[in-house]
Amino acid sequence: MTDHAKDARAQDAPTDAAALARLPRRPEEPAAPVQSTAHTVRLKALNAFYGDTHAVKGVDLTYAANQVTAMIGPSGCGKSTLVRCINRMHEEVPGARAEGEVLLGETDLYGAGVDLTSVRRTIGMVFQKPNPFPTMSIFDNVAAGLRLSGTKRGDLKERVEWALRGAGLWEEVKDRLGSPGVGLSGGQQQRLCIARTIAVEPDVILMDEPCSALDPIATLRIEELIHELKQRFTIVIVTHNMQQAARVADTTAFMLAGELVEHAPTERIFTNPDDDRTEQYVTGKFG
Ligand SMILES: Nc1ncnc2c1ncn2[C@@H]1O[C@H](COP(=O)(O)OP(=O)(O)O)[C@@H](O)[C@H]1O
Ligand SMILES: [Mg+2]
Repeated sequence: MTDHAKDARAQDAPTDAAALARLPRRPEEPAAPVQSTAHTVRLKALNAFYGDTHAVKGVDLTYAANQVTAMIGPSGCGKSTLVRCINRMHEEVPGARAEGEVLLGETDLYGAGVDLTSVRRTIGMVFQKPNPFPTMSIFDNVAAGLRLSGTKRGDLKERVEWALRGAGLWEEVKDRLGSPGVGLSGGQQQRLCIARTIAVEPDVILMDEPCSALDPIATLRIEELIHELKQRFTIVIVTHNMQQAARVADTTAFMLAGELVEHAPTERIFTNPDDDRTEQYVTGKFG
């Protein structure tokens, strides 16, 4: 970092949102908008199977760019399977397969010649249980993906700082970057995993119940963060917490037994859904 950049940074005492806006642009991005490179994700007739179990049934769904979409529905209805189809993790399960299309912008991620590594880099994922790399320091947890994707050594420090700022963790860890990632609290570990995910600049972030192992304070911190991250990324969050969906999601999709029942602005899902089954679920009558 140049001295000039250091000065600028010290002066404007960066908030997390400001840090996000400063994430480096990709070379192909136009110079003007600071905003995002996020893309729309469209599922077309998506089906997913585990052997004979038909876990996702003909789902058509559009995730708007720079919005947060919540996936809700009773346990076992296929939420996790569906999101794992989006970054092609589902097919890693022996005997599992998917059919249909997942379009990122105009690209079918299931099309011929699509490189799996780049799919997973472009579509990041955060899991229920924070899973920092156990033997790695805080710094290396964030740097790992950057190293793999060929970030130059000299650029690493700055990129790691950017990602940690973007994940709202920098101030808490800047003096102990060499300590083990697993030494952090649960909420900090989850933000570390988010930093690791955003470091490689994905377009889309999938989160599968990212707060269900966290206490309420840590949960609120992650929810605030999700709100900031959508400026830059398209976000899909699986949650069983109705209040969380209501707090963070622009739109909410309700699934039941592998099918998409409805997808609408979150407020409508919770106050005036089209389908009786949605109403029963959000008012706690089943699930
Ligand atoms: N690894 C697996 N092998 C076989 N069946 C699975 C596997 N994972 C999930 N399933 C089945 O797929 C269906 C959907 O599960 P899942 O996507 O985990 O639902 P949710 O995330 O909504 O709780 C369930 O019937 C579940 O038992
Ligand atoms: Mg699940």
